[in-house]
Amino acid sequence: MNYLVTGATGGFGNYALEFLKENVPTENIFAMVRSETKAAALKKAGINVRVGDYGDKDSMERALEGVDRLLFVSGAPGNRQQEHANVVEAAKEAGVSYIAYTSFAKADKATSPLAADHLFTERLIEKTGIPHTFLRNNWYLENELPLVEAALNSGKFVYAAGNGKTGWALKKEYAEVAVKALLGADFPAILELSGKPVDYQVLAKALETATGKTVDIISSDDQGFIANLVANGVPESVAEIFLTFQYDIKNDQLDVTSTDFEKALGRPLRSIEAGLKELLD
Ligand SMILES: NC(=O)c1ccc[n+]([C@@H]2O[C@H](COP(=O)([O-])OP(=O)(O)OC[C@H]3O[C@@H](n4cnc5c(N)ncnc54)[C@H](OP(=O)(O)O)[C@@H]3O)[C@@H](O)[C@H]2O)c1
Repeated sequence: MNYLVTGATGGFGNYALEFLKENVPTENIFAMVRSETKAAALKKAGINVRVGDYGDKDSMERALEGVDRLLFVSGAPGNRQQEHANVVEAAKEAGVSYIAYTSFAKADKATSPLAADHLFTERLIEKTGIPHTFLRNNWYLENELPLVEAALNSGKFVYAAGNGKTGWALKKEYAEVAVKALLGADFPAILELSGKPVDYQVLAKALETATGKTVDIISSDDQGFIANLVANGVPESVAEIFLTFQYDIKNDQLDVTSTDFEKALGRPLRSIEAGLKELLD
C-alpha cells in the first residue's frame, strides 16, 4: 500500500509525514513537493519524493502513479479551484483508492471567502466516487503567532474580531488526525475538527498564563488592528490579510462546536495555554 502526502514541504505536510513514518515503512511513503531542491531532508529520511504542481495536471498524474492512499493538503488561494480540479482528476485517473482532504470549518455552510474553494473541492471528490474523508480543519493556533508576538513585544494584545470564537488547535494535532484517516481509521466522511471555541479574551488570558506576562487586552477597530501589527514589524499587506481572518472570526465562521476532533484523536486536545507554551518555547 503506497501513501502520498502533498504539501510535503509545508508545516502540515511535514507533521503528517512524521506521524506516517511512525506507522508505515518509508519505502511505502511518498512526499509530493513542487521543487526538488526543497526535498533534501525528506530524501535523507528515506522518503520517496515525487515532484508535482497542482497547476500542472500532467505533473500530478506522474506524481500519483502507483499511489493508493492520498493526503491532499489544500493549496494557496488564487487559482485554487482549477488547481484542485487537476489534483482530483489526476487521482481518479491514477486509480487512487482513498483521499483525505484538508477542508474548511463547516465548508458547506460557511460564508467566508476561504470556504468556496474547499466546498468546490469536496464536491469534486464526492463526484469521483473515491472513498474519502473531509478534514474540516478549524484554525491553527500557529496562525495567531503574529498577534501573539506583537502582544509580547508591545504589551498590548490587539484584536478586531469582537466576541467571535475560534476552535483553535495545534497544526500537529490536525495532522495527526489526518494521518489516522489516511491509515484507514473508521471515521465518518466529514470530520469537523475544532477545538473548544473561545474568543480572543480567552486566548490573550491564556497567553498571560503561558508566559507569566501581563498584557493590555484591547478590542480594536480595523485601523487599530492593522496599525498595531505594522508597528510590530508585520508588512501592511500581510496585516490586511490578517484583518480578513478577524472578519471571519467576528462573523462566527470558526465558531464550531464538535466532539469529532477529540474522538478522532482518542485523547483531549492540548489546552490553549499548553499549545501557546509549546509554540513559544
Ligand atoms: N486551518 C487553518 O488554520 C489554515 C490556515 C492557513 C492555511 N490553511 C490551509 O492548509 C494548508 C496547509 O497548511 P500549512 O500550514 O502546511 O501551509 P504551508 O506551510 O504554507 O504549506 C503549503 C504547502 O502546499 C504546497 N503547495 C502550495 N501550492 C501548491 C501547488 N500549486 N502545487 C503543489 N504544492 C503546493 C507548498 O509547497 P511550496 O513549499 O513549494 O510552497 C507547501 O508544501 C494551506 O496550504 C492552506 O490551504 C489552513
